[in-house]
Amino acid sequence: MANVVVVGAQWGDEGKGKLVDWLSERADVIVRFQGGHNAGHTLVIDGKVYKLSLLPSGIVRSGKLSVIGNGVVLDPWSLLAEIEKISDQGVPVTPDNLLIAENTPLILPLHQDLDQIRETAAGKAKIGTTGRGIGPAYEDKVGRRSVRVADLADRDTLQTRLDRLLAHHDALRKGLGAEPIDRAKLMAELLEVAPRILPYAGPAWRVLDKNRRQGKRILFEGAQGALLDIDFGTYPYVTSSNTQSGMAATGSGMGPGAVDFVLGIVKAYTTRVGEGPFPAELFDDDGQRLGERGHEFGTVTGRQRRCGWFDSVLVRQTCTTGGVNGIALTKLDVLDGFEELKICVAYELDGKRIDYLPTAASQQARVKPIYETLPGWSETTAGARSWGELPAQAIKYVRRVEELIGCPVAILSTSPERDDTILVTDPFAA
Ligand code: GDP
Ligand code: IMO
Ligand code: MG
Repeated sequence: MANVVVVGAQWGDEGKGKLVDWLSERADVIVRFQGGHNAGHTLVIDGKVYKLSLLPSGIVRSGKLSVIGNGVVLDPWSLLAEIEKISDQGVPVTPDNLLIAENTPLILPLHQDLDQIRETAAGKAKIGTTGRGIGPAYEDKVGRRSVRVADLADRDTLQTRLDRLLAHHDALRKGLGAEPIDRAKLMAELLEVAPRILPYAGPAWRVLDKNRRQGKRILFEGAQGALLDIDFGTYPYVTSSNTQSGMAATGSGMGPGAVDFVLGIVKAYTTRVGEGPFPAELFDDDGQRLGERGHEFGTVTGRQRRCGWFDSVLVRQTCTTGGVNGIALTKLDVLDGFEELKICVAYELDGKRIDYLPTAASQQARVKPIYETLPGWSETTAGARSWGELPAQAIKYVRRVEELIGCPVAILSTSPERDDTILVTDPFAA
């Protein structure tokens, strides 16, 4: 039995939600292993749209177990609101189909405060975060002062946790000119939310192990993308977790051997939301057209996404750093009707040609894309469900992408709809 990890191979919003939903038909357990409700994963099933932030995308299918792993940072109030919203859409969420790892750290209102205070104070130097408290929550996890899901079960433990947490935050807030935390209010909020979260909590690592031993298929759902990875992304314009495949093991409690296939999700062009370097960014009509045709507005914050041609340098790099075995190429249909298409094949840095993104921020800001031009196609690929339906030039584009990134296309996606998907190589059979 093969277990598959789905990760974004660009700057997020590559279509992970659609692919995880599609693949989860053949999976038994779907696991989120990092990030939090900064993620916005869109599923379209028979025209009905589901937007998920913290719940694994497998939740919409009955008979599957969805797991929120310990690598996630969890805002309990946001999760409950999401459960209510998806339940209103006809998707039941109960402890039978949702399990939360009890060692998952919580995002508290003070984390969201801090995220927003810092972003405002940074002015032009802001990161452009989703403002959800993700970074501050991960800081507290590493700083060993988080409140974790299991702590909700015991008032005394909560008191001890708050002692340590508030000593840190009150000092920080003082420096930033913010009021100290109202401890009694926070305690009351935690005690109120505890009985609504705890029924879902358990030792996820044991449940995952049991499923694995029984030969069940496990599908790991990454959030964000490799270029937002805390180590390998465009630091500091990144998110605060490892977004790459390796995190699936530590973020769930399974060993690295549990992962058999890494599927990188790759958009047929490039987008980014938030600040930071973007060598192939377009500021012309083509960029605008990509954004309009691709409906490139953030699922979480509604911000307009920045757009550019496909950057093969970046994807070749992220396929390497993330150990990607095959990619799912999405939004090919957005390229329909362009007379010509460009692909970034290398960068020029101070007169020299280079084939990777340098780490130094000053160099990242100076690299200039070198493009190759390919003919476009006038036919439509939108909604294609077989390779045979694709125009010859579209196939050539896909083949060129594979060649440049050094990684095969396992799946093609041709519209937001679940079934407008072409399987080339089955990741579960790999
Ligand atoms: P995620 O964060 O990686 O799950 O991606 P998002 O859901 O934030 O953004 C991807 C957007 O593209 C969503 O609106 C999807 O419905 C849509 N989408 C996914 N695959 C395709 C595709 O192949 N073609 C088109 N046109 N849209 C797609
Ligand atoms: P999905 O899972 C795209 C970006 C933010 C910002 C940076 C840091 O839908 O692909 P954070 O709030 O995480 O501290 O913000 O990361 N970002 C995303 N961009 N897709 C996402 O998730 C993102 N999650 C965070 O815009 O630049
Ligand atoms: Mg998204």
